[in-house]
Amino acid sequence: MRIGIFVFSGTGNTRHVCSAIKEHLASAGHEVSLSTMCDAGKAAGFDCIIIGYPVHAFNAPRPVISFMKKLPNGDGKPIFMIQTSGEALHMNAAASLRPMQIARRKGYRALGAFSYVMPYNIIFRHSEEMAARMLETAKRRAPHDAAAIARLERIPVDANLLDRAVSLILRIEHPAMPIIGQHFRTTDSCIGCGRCALNCPQGNIMMAESRPVFGHSCSGCMGCAFTCPEDAIRISILDGWRVNGPYGWDGEAATDDEVCSYCRRSYLRYFHKYEDNQ
Ligand SMILES: Cc1cc2nc3c(=O)[nH]c(=O)nc-3n(C[C@H](O)[C@H](O)[C@H](O)COP(=O)(O)O)c2cc1C
Ligand code: SF4
Ligand code: SF4
Repeated sequence: MRIGIFVFSGTGNTRHVCSAIKEHLASAGHEVSLSTMCDAGKAAGFDCIIIGYPVHAFNAPRPVISFMKKLPNGDGKPIFMIQTSGEALHMNAAASLRPMQIARRKGYRALGAFSYVMPYNIIFRHSEEMAARMLETAKRRAPHDAAAIARLERIPVDANLLDRAVSLILRIEHPAMPIIGQHFRTTDSCIGCGRCALNCPQGNIMMAESRPVFGHSCSGCMGCAFTCPEDAIRISILDGWRVNGPYGWDGEAATDDEVCSYCRRSYLRYFHKYEDNQ
């Protein structure tokens, strides 16, 4: 099967999960391509499509929705969603409903969504141990999920009425983020390296006199603020939630006692589900 994986990833988590899935599909003999969401027309060349994205405010990010609207007619082709989120909350499931709905309208056979929990890139920083456990769980899951994709298995999306309502309300993030993003600023510690401009998936940052200038198409991915080597970016009204610096993936995984207290039960449920089932 020719499989096309299209990924939107601000800080690398979704790309990481999708790359792992790609490797397992490829080693099972499939022809797999992984690319960013630049050219929706490319989807016509595949037998099966995978759309990868981070959950933003219980929704798929705006660029993902725009990309999906540009997909060519699906003609009954299977399509899956792979989403990553910082929390193991049930409500995150609702994020896949809109992309799945668009896919169906375009004539795809929307078979479902895989939800991975990965380290938070906004609100608060997970401990290195938590991050390592998330990565370990993702590694454990990836071969099974790749096999389910290859079998074209249905992956039910379990979102209740409350999840759907909250997701719908928080879709306000889509028009809000470009406005908030215009007010991103840099501090004097900016060294003008241009890394933020180079990596912005929206091409929303221009360098002028060795300083970033933020435009009008921010998607709130946090790629710039998260990866700035000087922690020099201030993200306007969201600044209290700023998380800076990549996670060191090679730490020891957290034990149950060390799982952070925030939403502890949901994280443990997630870890144990993939420890027990696989
Ligand atoms: C603007 C924004 C909103 C987010 N909203 C949620 C959310 O509703 N639920 C959640 O569990 N994680 C949320 N997250 C965390 C990300 O989904 C998570 O860290 C994800 O793995 C990041 O993926 P990436 O590195 O591919 O961008 C949010 C992150 C950002 C930047
Ligand atoms: S990545 Fe940071 S230090 Fe480099 S130009 Fe952007 S804001 Fe300045
Ligand atoms: S400006 Fe920063 S947060 Fe906005 S889309 Fe670009 S990298 Fe992402």
